[in-house]
Amino acid sequence: MYKLLRPLLFRLDAETSHDLVLDGLAKASNSRMICQAIKLVYGTKNLSKPRKLMGLTFPNPVGLAAGLDKQANACNALHAFGFGWIELGTVTPKPQAGNEKPRMFRLTNHNAIINRMGFNSIGLDKFITNLAKANPDIIKGINIGKNAATPMEHANDDYLIGLRRVAEFADYVTINISSPNTKNLRNLQQDEQLDSLLGILNHERQRLSDELGKAIPLVLKISPDIDQVQIHGITRLLRTHQIDGVAATNTTLSRHSVQNSTLAPQAGGLSGSPMHNQSVEIISALYGHLRGEIPIIGMGGIDSPQAAITTLQAGADMIQLYSGLIYQGPKLISQILKGIQKTKSYGVQDQHHR
Ligand SMILES: Cc1cc2nc3c(=O)[nH]c(=O)nc-3n(C[C@H](O)[C@H](O)[C@H](O)COP(=O)(O)O)c2cc1C
Repeated sequence: MYKLLRPLLFRLDAETSHDLVLDGLAKASNSRMICQAIKLVYGTKNLSKPRKLMGLTFPNPVGLAAGLDKQANACNALHAFGFGWIELGTVTPKPQAGNEKPRMFRLTNHNAIINRMGFNSIGLDKFITNLAKANPDIIKGINIGKNAATPMEHANDDYLIGLRRVAEFADYVTINISSPNTKNLRNLQQDEQLDSLLGILNHERQRLSDELGKAIPLVLKISPDIDQVQIHGITRLLRTHQIDGVAATNTTLSRHSVQNSTLAPQAGGLSGSPMHNQSVEIISALYGHLRGEIPIIGMGGIDSPQAAITTLQAGADMIQLYSGLIYQGPKLISQILKGIQKTKSYGVQDQHHR
């Protein structure tokens, strides 16, 4: 079906078609019957291969990456496509419009996207109203960020506000300090600032855990544009502050593999096939330090079963999709699940863990 739909969607500009599809999925999310129908066509229940990580049992290891459902209103329908779990957001404390349009571009020849959305967000109040309506049985990661108007010296406060507000509804919370589209956000990956941020959030999640009577796993989402020294520093701080997982990676500022595209000069983060190797290298380096002690959620240019296998073999425990879904459609989820069941890599990774 997506084969027929894609040419029509690709005639519209990237954000218009995104909004159109998300509006439809938001409506579908309110109808059990439509979600059931989607499951009948795309469902992956028979491919279920549960994974226990971060104290959660994920029905399968293929999740939706953050940024597609920033409003948390299409969760039920997206889940019906067969994802093991859904990551919602990034949500910022206050509503904000994000950058000026156009801010999302398809590099069709490369199966890639450049975006500089800049955390367009409905803000926590509306986000939580939507979130509370989603099926509680779906495993949800909630991805939190900071408002562009919040000075960097107060960035920690925005993450604290986000954590406090989403904790009740989140199965885990992702701390997003790796978007390239909020000025200086990636500075939070630097040693001193990260130490301070993770320290505060770890402390607060322990307090919230006691208050709510449930675990609140924290995941740190990192950029692919970091060097070996930074990777080492980050893994050290993940351990120090008992962070439960690391999501690698966000989009890249590199244009190395899309130099011939007329859209390459567009500002923003590049995602999709051209960044696959770069993400895999980061995941591999992370795994070299973590050795299975802290799970890795791998993403970046996964658009085929082989790319999924490569990511898992590099050390990821689970994977997430965004650009691959845009280019290949929702069938990609079951194709990957079938593909990874056929390989040994999946079983090998299983042994690494607790
Ligand atoms: C249009 C767009 C918007 C995104 N927005 C977010 C976001 O809000 N928060 C986030 O953590 N990642 C965001 N991402 C990054 C994805 O979650 C993912 O890390 C990245 O795209 C690499 O995966 P992919 O190659 O499968 O797309 C966005 C990606 C795209 C293409």
